[in-house]
Amino acid sequence: GPALPLPDGLPEPELNPNAEVVLERRYLRKDGHGTPYESPRELFWRVASVVAAQEQQYEQGRNPDELARQFYELMTSWTFLPNSPTLMNAGTELGQLAACFVLPVEDSMEGIFDAVKNAAMIHKSGGGTGFAFSRLRPSNACVGSTGGVASGPVSFMKIFNTATEQVKQGGTRRGANMAILRVDHPDVLQFISAKERENELNNFNLSVGLTERFMRAVEQDEEYALIAPHNGKTVQTLKAREVFNLLVRKAWESGDPGIVFLDRINRDNPTPELGEIESTNPCGEQPLLPFEACNLGSLNLGRFVLPGETANGGADLVDWERLRETVHLCVRFLDNVIDASRYPLQRITEMVAKTRKIGLGVMGWADMLYQLRLPYDSRRAVELAEKVMEFIRAEARSASKQLATERGPFPAYDNSLFGKQNLGPYRNATTTTVAPTGTLSIIAGCSSGVEPLFALSFTRNVMDNDTLTEANPYFEQALRDTGAYSEQLMREVARTGTIRDMDHLPEELRRVFVTAMDMEPLWHLNMQAAFQKYTDNAVSKTVNLPNEATQDHIRDIYWKAYELGCKGVTVYRSGCKSVQVLCTGEKQ
Ligand code: CDP
Repeated sequence: GPALPLPDGLPEPELNPNAEVVLERRYLRKDGHGTPYESPRELFWRVASVVAAQEQQYEQGRNPDELARQFYELMTSWTFLPNSPTLMNAGTELGQLAACFVLPVEDSMEGIFDAVKNAAMIHKSGGGTGFAFSRLRPSNACVGSTGGVASGPVSFMKIFNTATEQVKQGGTRRGANMAILRVDHPDVLQFISAKERENELNNFNLSVGLTERFMRAVEQDEEYALIAPHNGKTVQTLKAREVFNLLVRKAWESGDPGIVFLDRINRDNPTPELGEIESTNPCGEQPLLPFEACNLGSLNLGRFVLPGETANGGADLVDWERLRETVHLCVRFLDNVIDASRYPLQRITEMVAKTRKIGLGVMGWADMLYQLRLPYDSRRAVELAEKVMEFIRAEARSASKQLATERGPFPAYDNSLFGKQNLGPYRNATTTTVAPTGTLSIIAGCSSGVEPLFALSFTRNVMDNDTLTEANPYFEQALRDTGAYSEQLMREVARTGTIRDMDHLPEELRRVFVTAMDMEPLWHLNMQAAFQKYTDNAVSKTVNLPNEATQDHIRDIYWKAYELGCKGVTVYRSGCKSVQVLCTGEKQ
């Protein structure tokens, strides 16, 4: 439905300069000449009132006016933001509010081109798409109807890539795709090297789907079979270690492909009777069934720190009570978004209605640690990560349970893992996901996702040709508090990004205000694993490596990710040739 009229006295949101630029360029509604006809206040009221209006369809629904004000306050205090399509499209004719979709690609001309078309529809509506190409017959396999030979997954991916190039996502950003191919597909070697040339498949992130069987073969230095999906025949066998080493080398060279652990993802598939999970959304944090969609939202953890000095590793300064209330409000918000959203395909509408997945996650984690004076690369920080995410998941599930008593469980509940284990009933088949928050974190003015800061101060390219210099506010405040602040120092930090080597600064500052490049790479992974332990879906995280990192480092990271229970891992070696498709504010 349409937004409610703007009530009197609604406070104007306080925007940081970057947020102002981003909102105007991408989020405010515009007329045919590209001139915005809504203010940021109208934007957030539009979203709040449309999402709150969904209460009307439930017998035990809340008062939509009061709830809309609560949602407005929740967003404009930069405590929580829903994913970009919700901000852009709530209350519009398009009305598509989810960021994440997965589409099947069947092994037929019709199936392949249906998927191309469906992806275009989703991109147009502002969503990103993931595909598994694992069902396609390999290149050079016979095509019965014509007596010719098949082109194979990588060739067809180029068609998806070109189609994506031509459709601006929701009219504002280029579409994003994930392609996954199983490691036992006969074209896997071609897939692993598919992005080795600059700009090749530039609208795709690639991940190889690793199986438990493959990982065991790597461990025991055995061969494994490549199987043609259309007839189940073994085409060839390969040495698992050689394939693993090739994966490592390509990731070292270009950052692509990443890896995902498919069996592990399916072990956590809450509704196996509805099908197997073959792919994730573009940034990897949301595994989904074919034709499923999911909307995400992120809490800004930087807003939950109480003043004072910590005596027990930070937990005493987390505002748990406020976090609890906020999580409950956010789950209600995201569940309403499902009802408020219109999906571009009937099949998707039906799938979403069955599982009602939502993905509540966090951003501002590095900001929280800075305020608590805990170094990101420390045991205490990793322990706090577990505590915080464990709490959020427990409260999100309890909120979902509460909604189930008011509105009924998700329709696939009975045959789901929860139903069989008598755990529910829940309103949502999943409740937690940690998204990259590439743009959301700019709007909220916080650090992105669970990433450490890239630099304490830097110049940011915002979209085409605007640049903005910014220093992390907690860093700046700490400098002022210790009397170390000077304009000259700030200029120096903007150049190098880090204070690691600035001997003249207090030791505690240098230890606390670490950046991605200052720390041992394994800390990235320890942090990812800590959040993953208490996240239903997956955690978006890039393990950033210095340029000097070796292939051995990457091999260790991949293996460790497997051992620590991560669902996948992406590495990026500074200065390696490829530019990632998306996911950091700087690059969008
Ligand atoms: O911050 P924002 O809500 O814009 O997005 P994000 O947290 O960086 O990304 C979350 C998800 O949105 C991605 O995994 C994609 O599914 C989708 N996305 C997309 O389709 N296109 C983009 N340019 C960015 C994100």
